[in-house]
Amino acid sequence: MSPRSDWSPDSWRSRPALQQPVYGDRKALARAVAELERLPPLVTSWEIESLKSQLADAASGRAFLLQGGDCAESLAECTSPAITAKLKILLQMSLVLVFASRRRVIRVGRFAGQYAKPRSADFEEVAGARLPSYRGDLINRAGASAAERAADPELLLRAYERSALTLNFIRALVDGGFADLHHPEYWDLGWVEHSPLAAEYRRMVAALGESLRFMETLAGQPVAEMNRVDFYTSHEGLHLLYEQAQTRRVPHREGWYDLTAHFPWIGMRTSDPEGAHAEFFRGIANPIALKVGPATTPERLARLLDLLHPDDEPGRLTLVHRFGARGIAAGLPPLLETVRASGKNVLWCCDPMHGNTETTGSGRKTRRFDDILGELEQAFELHAAHGTRLGGVQFELTGENVTECTGGARGLTNDGLERDYRSQVDPRLNYEQSLEMAMRIARRMGPESDQPADAALGSPPRIAPTR
Ligand code: PEP
Ligand code: CO
Repeated sequence: MSPRSDWSPDSWRSRPALQQPVYGDRKALARAVAELERLPPLVTSWEIESLKSQLADAASGRAFLLQGGDCAESLAECTSPAITAKLKILLQMSLVLVFASRRRVIRVGRFAGQYAKPRSADFEEVAGARLPSYRGDLINRAGASAAERAADPELLLRAYERSALTLNFIRALVDGGFADLHHPEYWDLGWVEHSPLAAEYRRMVAALGESLRFMETLAGQPVAEMNRVDFYTSHEGLHLLYEQAQTRRVPHREGWYDLTAHFPWIGMRTSDPEGAHAEFFRGIANPIALKVGPATTPERLARLLDLLHPDDEPGRLTLVHRFGARGIAAGLPPLLETVRASGKNVLWCCDPMHGNTETTGSGRKTRRFDDILGELEQAFELHAAHGTRLGGVQFELTGENVTECTGGARGLTNDGLERDYRSQVDPRLNYEQSLEMAMRIARRMGPESDQPADAALGSPPRIAPTR
């Protein structure tokens, strides 16, 4: 991407910046930001460029984007079991999608940095007290006291460090062969044994193993690329001081890279084209995503396409639509038309989570499996009807056996939510619901006639984040 002469990493400061915390101690904030500026980056520009070219493939139908992870990561859950469980479920889902679609699947986690949350209100009632809203572990603490809810600049450093620890562990696991397609048993999750879907999943794994052996017989040697699988990182680029502190120039490349994540996104609430977030994202060279939904008018989207995607660079812009099962049929077509009229190429991705959130009688935020699936199925159909292509999905999910969304093969009910509801913010699909979701969409996708199985398996050499 060519650098913009009228942009700098802090030019967003001249624009209204929504959803930014207010810090009591400005000096402590300046110290924390200065430290973040000195510390090494979390990711590198060559990983970012590699992802960008893969996203360009997804936009043109040669790959499919699978993005998933927590609504909000928590500092406390930076643990080996939580991280491996997330990798395992993403691997399993991607295997199902590769198998069904015969397309390469790009795995992007909502992890190693998904610590900041936009909130609809600045204050909330907790046990009768009016407290500042919890904004994610990057900013304040979830506890129910004024002290815990105060924005703490030290948390910027703690979240950066936990992101680095998470990424370090993921890189080491991938390097060590954790994601080796020859050994899918490495990434089995314990309770797959008891899942109603276990048999179907095992059949797919066995068939994939067959294809792999077939290819290796033909090639006369092991398919080395199959020993490792890439994961990329993404988070909502919400806290602009944090993003700015890690936005840098790099040797031998033009432009500025936001090195906190490979693939940051602009959330729904901060997508005003005149706002600070659009200004910041306009100037970074990363592939970026933009959430679009009921509040995105065609005029606003047209303006954002001009701002964020002026050069129509392949892989640069992903539009993530999130209308809800009841809103997508009316909401999506005008946006598809706006992009068509612009003549630009984007990657279309569906987030079937954020338009389908509801609150139960007992005050739990939840989502119904059937609404999530229903939005996705409509998304496939609406794109097909408009001659566009759904090239990716984004889920809030976990590899653990939580009870936050209702429905799925085990028919989890509202009462069942109490058994293990952990999310501090939005409800996630649990392991079994996630795998079932992948299987249900895989049935929909079907193989593309121009994509032989080996094209999906034998992807061209890529730079993995571990190198
Ligand atoms: C999210 O992805 O967690 C989120 C807050 O989404 P949105 O900005 O689409 O509401
Ligand atoms: Co969320």
